[in-house]
Amino acid sequence: MALLDVENLAVTFRTADGTVNAVNGLSLSIEAGETLAIVGESGSGKSQTAFAVMGLLARNGLASGSVRLDGDELLGLSQSALNKLRAQQMAMIFQDPMTSLNPYLKVGDQMAEVLTLHKGMSKRDALKDCVAMLDAVRIPDAAGRLRMYPHEFSGGMRQRIMIAMALLCRPRLLIADEPTTALDVTVQAQIMELLAEVRQEFGTAMILITHDLGIVADTCERTVVMYGGRVMEQGATTDLFATPSHPYTLGLLRAVPRLDIDQDELATIPGDPPDMSRLPKGCPFTPRCAFRLDHCGDVQPELLAYRDVRRACHADPEVVK
Ligand SMILES: Nc1ncnc2c1ncn2[C@@H]1O[C@H](COP(=O)(O)OP(=O)(O)OP(=O)(O)O)[C@@H](O)[C@H]1O
Ligand SMILES: [Mg+2]
Repeated sequence: MALLDVENLAVTFRTADGTVNAVNGLSLSIEAGETLAIVGESGSGKSQTAFAVMGLLARNGLASGSVRLDGDELLGLSQSALNKLRAQQMAMIFQDPMTSLNPYLKVGDQMAEVLTLHKGMSKRDALKDCVAMLDAVRIPDAAGRLRMYPHEFSGGMRQRIMIAMALLCRPRLLIADEPTTALDVTVQAQIMELLAEVRQEFGTAMILITHDLGIVADTCERTVVMYGGRVMEQGATTDLFATPSHPYTLGLLRAVPRLDIDQDELATIPGDPPDMSRLPKGCPFTPRCAFRLDHCGDVQPELLAYRDVRRACHADPEVVK
């Protein structure tokens, strides 16, 4: 049994302008200890997929389908049941650590609270664990730092604190949503390295949401490519990147700058991302697809096995080059 099994997930938002279909029948799974990347352009439904899994959708959002953790259904659980699961089984870190750190509380107090609340530990024992975890994420003088406020740390340090906090209860699944986008490039690399190390140390599975295909290639065993709230293609990262068989994956990869070949200009995918409240009946990528066939806009392609990957596309994979 997979650690996390998402089946036919749909996320809709009710707005004054109608219904936004952010995620549309998405299925994915992740095994214990595995790393899975979710990639795709802005607005493709990556974050909402993560929020639905965590039970953190905005109030106007509704999730349907199935999200099972170790076989147990999460959709429809009460907030208190979810709260327990969130700390102990799965945790999430975000692009901007300040959105999840309380600016008015000392770092030690907010970290310790996770353990006193969820593990029933005494404050004293909790603080000891916090020091150990800050050590693990390479924060120097961890004991002294516990008495500081979030604003006294640099962005990179704050992200380390978030990682430490997320790992305090040793969750089996960590969802990292653009964890390094707000940081400069050297700090980005350090944080990714740290994530890889602590994952190994604690055996945590990770879903990494990112725009950075270079990071994906370096860190994730499997990749899910999303567009219009659907999976376009998924498979082992090496297979997907070496021989993309979906026009959208091909487009994404062509838009990555490369040093090893001559490139006059980056091939961006022409056209705009879809309006999620007015998606075509068929494949959402149809209007921008160079390989589209007559029926693509009307008939939803199924996600079918092709070689070692799965792809949702009507076009002959052999011509997608
Ligand atoms: N509370 C909300 N109400 C209405 N629409 C929403 C709400 N939250 C998200 N959406 C819409 O859901 C869609 C998917 O958003 P999501 O945040 O998952 O995109 P994303 O793939 O994470 O993009 P990015 O790479 O920019 O973070 C978008 O069209 C977004 O506008
Ligand atoms: Mg997002």
